[in-house]
Amino acid sequence: MPLMSWSSEYEIGHGVIDAQHQELFAIFNRLHEAMMERRTTEVMTRTFNDLERYVRFHFRTEEMLMDRHGFPDAERHKAAHDDFAGRLLELYSDFERGRHTVAMEAAIFLRSWLNSHIPVADRKLGEYVKG
Ligand SMILES: [Fe+2]
Ligand SMILES: [Fe+2]
Repeated sequence: MPLMSWSSEYEIGHGVIDAQHQELFAIFNRLHEAMMERRTTEVMTRTFNDLERYVRFHFRTEEMLMDRHGFPDAERHKAAHDDFAGRLLELYSDFERGRHTVAMEAAIFLRSWLNSHIPVADRKLGEYVKG
């Protein structure tokens, strides 16, 4: 059973960003599934790495959009991305160093972040770009 299910409350009204958020949910669910099914370290590492890379790619997309449209809240939004990416990288390196319980910590952290960042900060960006 997926931990994060996509629904319209997460839509920010920008096709590319909405699609990337859905992909983030999908990778997140894959990581969660890999944990639940006690998959091998190799599978876990690959999935964790996919997530970390996709998050960075996604942030770059949003930040390019902010720059292109002169989004007024860009600085704060980018700082939130940097905090998050830094924490995720920390968790990933802990995981790589063999502290595998960190995957659960990462899942909890990520879920609460997705739930708080997308409907608030990303929605503001979506509304600004549309308006
Ligand atoms: Fe986002
Ligand atoms: Fe964002």
